[in-house]
Amino acid sequence: MGNARLDAIFSDVLESLRRVIREHRVTEGEWRLGVAWLTEAGTQPNEIPLLLDVHLGAAVDDVNNAVETGTENTLEGPFYVPGAPLLIAPYVLPMRPDEPGERLLFSGTVRASDGAPLAGAMLDLWQVSADGGYSHFHPGYPDYNLRGRLATDDEGRFEVLTVVPVPYEVPKDGATGRLLAALGRTAFRPAHLHVKLTHEGHRPLTTQVYFEDDPWLGRDAVLGTDRPSLVTRLVRDDGGPARCSYDFVLEPQPAAVPA
Ligand code: BEZ
Ligand code: FE
Repeated sequence: MGNARLDAIFSDVLESLRRVIREHRVTEGEWRLGVAWLTEAGTQPNEIPLLLDVHLGAAVDDVNNAVETGTENTLEGPFYVPGAPLLIAPYVLPMRPDEPGERLLFSGTVRASDGAPLAGAMLDLWQVSADGGYSHFHPGYPDYNLRGRLATDDEGRFEVLTVVPVPYEVPKDGATGRLLAALGRTAFRPAHLHVKLTHEGHRPLTTQVYFEDDPWLGRDAVLGTDRPSLVTRLVRDDGGPARCSYDFVLEPQPAAVPA
């Protein structure tokens, strides 16, 4: 017997595509171009996950991870790597001795939906460097550069030194970039910090923090991810590192549904 759920989903995918073909009267030339473009994507490493994340990842994330009372979720993206170093306070994200970029002190709290501080909540942080690369994905970075895990203190607070992330372009030398260019869209994402938060008894949260006044906010290449509630302010006022803060809220873990 076939898989009924797969059958239902695949039939709907096909029906949606047939409707598009009919409504737009897709020509045979356009069809062949589409097939060639998909074939090209399939031969490029990491291109299919990137393509799907850019166009569809946010929808899958929302279906599965939308929050009710906590900090809004947003897409994990293709650049997460598990197993980042567990840091010891005072927290500094692992970085190269000559790591370029302005230093950033990122602080905040993690609380439950009722406002109770969550001590020992774990933040798993990852970000792009000031020269525009993610360790493990772009060449020339040590493993786990600008990636680390840290715990909140007894009052649910955290503070970590890192560098200010920059707006960057999603890889655009492959099929994903060619499509964005053909659509007249840029490949830029607003600057952001990625974070996964966990605390026992609470729903794990994967989200991103953005910065006010970023020229790419609202026109993220990855549609549906740069949510206004996730935007904070970068403060530069005392000659020290830039500072930003974000107060996260984790929802209670929903009761397990009996199998
Ligand atoms: C990112 O934020 O790292 C990302 C998300 C989706 C597609 C590409 C990159
Ligand atoms: Fe990113």
